[in-house]
Amino acid sequence: MKNQVSVEVHNLTVSYDGGPVLWDIDFELPQGQIIGIIGPNGSGKTTLLKSIMGLVEPSSGFVKIYDKNLDDVRERVAYVPQRESVDWDFPASVFDVVMMGRYRKKNLLKRTNKADVEIVNQSIEKVGLTEFKNRQISQLSGGQQQRVFIARALAQKADLYLMDEPFVGVDAATESSILALLQEMKADGKTVLIIHHDLQTVSEYFDYLVLLNTRLIAKGNLQEVLTKENLSNAYGGQLTLLSKVVDLIKKTEFPIREKDVDL
Ligand SMILES: Nc1ncnc2c1ncn2[C@@H]1O[C@H](COP(=O)(O)OP(=O)(O)O)[C@@H](O)[C@H]1O
Ligand SMILES: [Mg+2]
Repeated sequence: MKNQVSVEVHNLTVSYDGGPVLWDIDFELPQGQIIGIIGPNGSGKTTLLKSIMGLVEPSSGFVKIYDKNLDDVRERVAYVPQRESVDWDFPASVFDVVMMGRYRKKNLLKRTNKADVEIVNQSIEKVGLTEFKNRQISQLSGGQQQRVFIARALAQKADLYLMDEPFVGVDAATESSILALLQEMKADGKTVLIIHHDLQTVSEYFDYLVLLNTRLIAKGNLQEVLTKENLSNAYGGQLTLLSKVVDLIKKTEFPIREKDVDL
C-alpha cells in the first residue's frame, strides 16, 4: 500500500504574516497519475506546492515523498514554477535553462557531459522548441516560456513533477502539446501534480483531484471530489460557479438527480 503513495502531507499548517493560509492539511496521493490541485484564488495552492518542495517553512506538520524526506529524494522531484514568478530578463538561452535540469546539488563541480547535452536536446525537442534552442528566454512568447520550464523539468528525469498553473497564458496549440506530454509522462509511470484554476477543463485533464480552500475540502477521483457540496464548500458564495457546477456534473456524466440540477 505504502509504495503506491507519491506524496504524503500530514497535519500541515502554514502561516504568513497574516495568519494561516493552509490549515491542518492531511492527505496521501497516488503514484502514476495526473493530479490536479484546485481551489479559488488565494486558497493556498501555490503555498501547498512550495511546502512539498520545501520552499516554505510550515508552522506544523510534515511532508514525505516516496516515504522519504525531501532532502533524500530531491533529485526525483522537478518543479515548474508559475510563469509570472520567473525573471524572464535573466540572460540565458533556452538551452542554458534546460541544462539547469541536469545540474545536481551534490555534484555542482561536475562538468556536464555529452549524455547531458543529448538529454537536454531531447527535452527541447519534446516541447517543440528545437528551432529556438539558442534564443534568449526574454525573446520567447508566453507559451514558449512555459515550455522551456517544462523541458527543464523533463531534463531532470524526475519521478514526481510539480507544476504551478502551466496552462495560464499559453496558446491553444501549447495547451494541447502540454496535455499530450502529460499523458506520455503518465504512461512512463511519472506522477504529475498540477495547480489548475479553470474548473471547466478539470474533468478532461485530471485523474485525481485535491480541492483546497485553506483547509482540505476533498480529495479523490473526479466523482468523489466534484460534488455540488464540495464545490460550494470551496467556492461558496461565488454565484457564477453554480452554473459551472451543473456543467461539470453533466460533462462527467455523473448521475444527475433532480435536486442537483435545480441549483
Ligand atoms: N510570501 C507571502 N507572504 C505573505 N502572504 C502570502 C505570501 N504568499 C502568499 N500569501 C498569501 O497566502 C494566501 C495563499 O496564497 P497562494 O498559496 O499563492 O494561493 P493560490 O495559489 O491558491 O492563489 C493568499 O492570501 C496570499 O495573499
Ligand atoms: Mg497560485
